[in-house]
Amino acid sequence: MLKIAVLVSGSGSNLQSIIDSIEAEKLKCTIEMVISDREGTFGIERAKQKGIKTYVLDKKIYGREISKNILSLTENKVDLIVLAGFLSILDSELITSFKNKIINIHPSLIPSFCGPGMYGIKVHEKAIDYGVRFSGCTVHFVDEGTDTGAIISQRIVPVYQDDTADTLQKRVLKEEHEILPEVINLIAEGRVKVEERKITIV
Ligand code: GAR
Repeated sequence: MLKIAVLVSGSGSNLQSIIDSIEAEKLKCTIEMVISDREGTFGIERAKQKGIKTYVLDKKIYGREISKNILSLTENKVDLIVLAGFLSILDSELITSFKNKIINIHPSLIPSFCGPGMYGIKVHEKAIDYGVRFSGCTVHFVDEGTDTGAIISQRIVPVYQDDTADTLQKRVLKEEHEILPEVINLIAEGRVKVEERKITIV
């Protein structure tokens, strides 16, 4: 069975969608640990409520050492690292050790509204300001850039004329909560083939 670590920085609603999918037997994997890069996140609370092992590596304390610590917690213990609203940047040692074994969810249709500093509600504010008619979410492998890794799956939502960043965020989150467990399951079933940027679902 695929063993995963889930990394969070905030409310952890995407973590919850993974937990719910496992409980509903739609997703076959085990969450070995949940790691947060800050104190007091609801994501850590959600994990504790389910008896999942948790670690807080406060980025104010760990700074650039955060990746090293994540590597020592996860190496040889998990098969896949899932960034579920995790906002710290990972260093190349961790990314190389887990090549094509780290995935991230981003709340836009990459390559739009992504890159350094683009996270959470900011992404939806930019989409509204730009006036796009469609937005969505993307699950991709993590490489050394920010949001530049190969795309595994995307979901599209309409953007309505009276949308605010908040209403758009809610619509996109609903899709995120389906696409992330779905992709983890594809990986668990060995159905995601990677050749450079070309991802094939078999
Ligand atoms: C999600 O919308 C996720 O896509 C986004 O942060 C939110 C976390 O919500 N991630 C990024 O913006 C990464 N660039 P959650 O804590 O409720 O899962």
